Amino acid sequence: MKFGHFDDEHREYVIETPKTPLPWINYLGSKEFFTLISNTCGGYTFYKDAKLLRLTRYRYNDVPMDINGKYFYIKDGDTVWNPGWKPTQTDLDEYECRHGIGYSKFKGVKNGVRADVLTFVPVNDNCEVSKLVVTNDSSEEKNISIFSYVEWCLWNADDDSRNFQRNFSTGEVEVKGSAIYHKTEYRERRNHYAVYSVNAPITAFDTARDSFLGLYHYAGNPEAVLNGKLTNSMASGWSPIAAHQLDVTLKPGESKSYVFVLGYIENPVEDKWESHNVINKKPAEALLAKYDTDAKVDAAFAELNDQWDKLLNIYTVDSSNDKVNRMVNIWNQYQCMVTFNMSRSASYYESGIGRGMGFRDSCQDLLGFVHLIPDRARERIIDIASTQFEDGRAYHQYQPLTKKGNSDIGSGFGDDPLWLIAGTSAYIRETGDATILDEMVPFDNDASVAQTLMEHLRRSFGYVDTHRGPHRLPLIGRADWNDCLNLNCHSTQPGESFQTFGPSEGPVAESVFIGGMFVKYGNEYADLCDLKGLTDEAAKVRASVAEMNEILLDSNAGWDGEWFVRAYDSYGNKVGSKECEEGKIFIEPQGFCVLAGVGTETGQAQKALDSVKEHLDTKYGVMILQPAYTVYHEELGEVSSYPPGYKENAGIFCHNNPWVSIAETVIGRGDRAFEVYKKTCPAYTEEISEIHRTEPYIYCQMVAGADAKFHGEGKNSWLTGTAAWTFVNISQYILGVYPTLKGLSVDPCVPADFGDFSVKRIYRGVEYDITVKQNGAQKGVKELIVDGAKIDGTVIPYDASKKTVKVEVVMG
Ligand code: BGC
Repeated sequence: MKFGHFDDEHREYVIETPKTPLPWINYLGSKEFFTLISNTCGGYTFYKDAKLLRLTRYRYNDVPMDINGKYFYIKDGDTVWNPGWKPTQTDLDEYECRHGIGYSKFKGVKNGVRADVLTFVPVNDNCEVSKLVVTNDSSEEKNISIFSYVEWCLWNADDDSRNFQRNFSTGEVEVKGSAIYHKTEYRERRNHYAVYSVNAPITAFDTARDSFLGLYHYAGNPEAVLNGKLTNSMASGWSPIAAHQLDVTLKPGESKSYVFVLGYIENPVEDKWESHNVINKKPAEALLAKYDTDAKVDAAFAELNDQWDKLLNIYTVDSSNDKVNRMVNIWNQYQCMVTFNMSRSASYYESGIGRGMGFRDSCQDLLGFVHLIPDRARERIIDIASTQFEDGRAYHQYQPLTKKGNSDIGSGFGDDPLWLIAGTSAYIRETGDATILDEMVPFDNDASVAQTLMEHLRRSFGYVDTHRGPHRLPLIGRADWNDCLNLNCHSTQPGESFQTFGPSEGPVAESVFIGGMFVKYGNEYADLCDLKGLTDEAAKVRASVAEMNEILLDSNAGWDGEWFVRAYDSYGNKVGSKECEEGKIFIEPQGFCVLAGVGTETGQAQKALDSVKEHLDTKYGVMILQPAYTVYHEELGEVSSYPPGYKENAGIFCHNNPWVSIAETVIGRGDRAFEVYKKTCPAYTEEISEIHRTEPYIYCQMVAGADAKFHGEGKNSWLTGTAAWTFVNISQYILGVYPTLKGLSVDPCVPADFGDFSVKRIYRGVEYDITVKQNGAQKGVKELIVDGAKIDGTVIPYDASKKTVKVEVVMG
């Protein structure tokens, strides 16, 4: 069952009912000012950091679902309603929410009055702009009142939800004309404030929540709105808000438009005040003036759309499959940009006050957005590498504001170092900019011990190469990609961190998955050595990789007979083996070893993937392991702590489904690669939204596995490495347009009935127009014709002197 539809022409998902199975959200903002907005106008706003600089309040984990947002109320006689349905939940005659690329639109119609809201964050300003247009579609004159409402967060969202004894006394506001200023703590150590304003004279306002809502009321029935009269309250402590009242007369057929701006302002310390305790409003007024007419707003909206036109023009596909087209051309790339902006910080499932940026998460996210914003990818790589330790280990997380490693969680995750190679290699393959390898980059943010980025990568590889266990497989440490495989932790008491409790980094527990990564990224590192003319080093690296390859295929080490072992625990026992009672087979080593090319010559690759299909496949995606753990295994850790079918305990972790799909392309099975792709693909799961429940235009982290009560139900949408990996899968492996160090390679692997298709790719400033004649083949390039000339192999040598290149591919 669907709750809306895709409008590909406008790059929008059109939600037709406010009662979606879960709030379906969108992200506004692309630089420093961000808003999360749901299909019923829920959500919140922050500047730079969702924990430290939060402008508006949101209540997680509360009922009714999705509490607090930026609301407009319309009072028409005795009826009070909202264009986005919430919070009054008054039945609407018509409702529509269009989530677009960096903006959302709402349409509500009630008793002949129509309200249209467009909300977006302009490209270059720290504010959110909402244009509200009210239209009288009835045949009688309408006298209505419009009320706005936002509730301020007292900046530090963590403190705001804990430190009531202090915060109930600190709230402060100012009002000037139609502008309501939130200046809590501005007097002491802050030099920033927020403003919420409208470009029209107001009848009244409220800034104290209790006056607006009334005691024992809530946002669904605010007393002042029901009374039709705001009270001009001035907040003093408690909970400051901003609410405007506009009384509007509309003749039949008449429309009126209002622009509301929610902004963030920072003043230089010496310029904070206009007079004693009166804030300097000049910069706020200048900001508001930039959006005080419809024409200015429309121009800013056009600028936003232009920006996205440019970005989404870099990789486009035209195939006979609409679902693939819309995911590749619009939504998958959009989600990659959102994960770049947010990492795993702020969503409807991530509170924005928890973890910082993950080292491995950020490196993997890069794979999905590097073609869109290479300059920012470069910066990000340097930031990430600057947190690395001198011996090659990495902080598992770092803080986005300080860019320093997070010592609470520390280091010791065996896979982290190799992801730095993955991200850097992707950047250089995309841009050709090898100068990044010569950049001097600090270790642990200490510039006095800076070394080149190349040296960082050397230490990444070296660390894993020299930290091996009894089978010569890489040591797992606290965990590898699977954060919940905690083989050295042995926690038995609640409250202990699964990752950091106990010895945590032992000399025995090994990861076969990291072995697969070692092959994949070891090879990419060797290519970088060649690029730098370090042929001896490249040869040494390749020798290590070849040795690891053997170890992975050895039935006394990485190979279990029908599939790859997952790991060895701290007692040296196998994890993910037919010898185990539960957790006999895991997805990660099957996907990653095969995508790295391990076992392709011996038949083991195919065997491993056949085993995946036999043991892990479901109609909703490929599960992470089977059989699910039904008892807690102290020696395995968090993985066995979840109820069967959820999260890492046999859930369908969407992130590693593309690894399996990519692996299938490596062995040339296009039908199966696409079958795996489709199962978790939003454009396909849209049809079963009542089961899947999360947004049908973007990926979620996890879908409940076959053992779970709610098999097929998605959770934790938006901020997941799935976005990057699925885009890599569909764009580089299935459609097959893969950036190499030497140029673009075109080597598709598609299902037999996919049909001909074309890809337009802007790569290092050159536009490639690629057409593919499939001939019913799943893989294989029979002919590659570049600007009329046939060439050997699949790589189009990069030629900077050309503006456009015409590429014809004949498969077979
Ligand atoms: C984390 C990833 C991890 C994955 C699997 C996610 O929540 O952000 O770093 O790889 O879970 O455990």
